[in-house]
Amino acid sequence: MFTQGEVYCLAVSSLNEIPWDVLRAHARNATTKSYAPYSHVTVGAAGYTSDGRIVEGSNVENASYGLTLCAECSLVSDLTRQGGGHLVAVAIVAGDGQPIAPCGRCRQLLFEHGGGEMLVDAGDDAPAHRLRELLPGAFGPNDLGARSNQ
Ligand code: THU
Repeated sequence: MFTQGEVYCLAVSSLNEIPWDVLRAHARNATTKSYAPYSHVTVGAAGYTSDGRIVEGSNVENASYGLTLCAECSLVSDLTRQGGGHLVAVAIVAGDGQPIAPCGRCRQLLFEHGGGEMLVDAGDDAPAHRLRELLPGAFGPNDLGARSNQ
């Protein structure tokens, strides 16, 4: 659909290109779609793709607690459902509208679709993180071919 390398680098070359306010607004709206009857922690996530689309996700809990789907998981589903793409930035917020740290599993999920350069919102008072800072030494798609015995 697109060449990941070049498009990706252009899209994240400047923090100013990321529409953080728009992303945060989408993430906050997504918290209203969350299903969180057990923790009551509503979470919304919004991602910006290298071709300028916005994808969203909300957490979906389950009576079997460990099966809960995080908002980022739902976001990745939305991305795939839209036909795929490459994430350049994500904003994740809780029901209070403030940034929430992505859990370990979600850092790995996001890495698959955004790589280490993807930006993760840290709020107004701090610069955005790169995913490689939140998930150093990540295992990713490139490791599969390199480590396969076939
Ligand atoms: N949660 C997310 O949606 N994303 C994260 O990265 C951290 C945690 C959700 C899962 C659960 O529904 C609630 O927050 C409390 O853990």
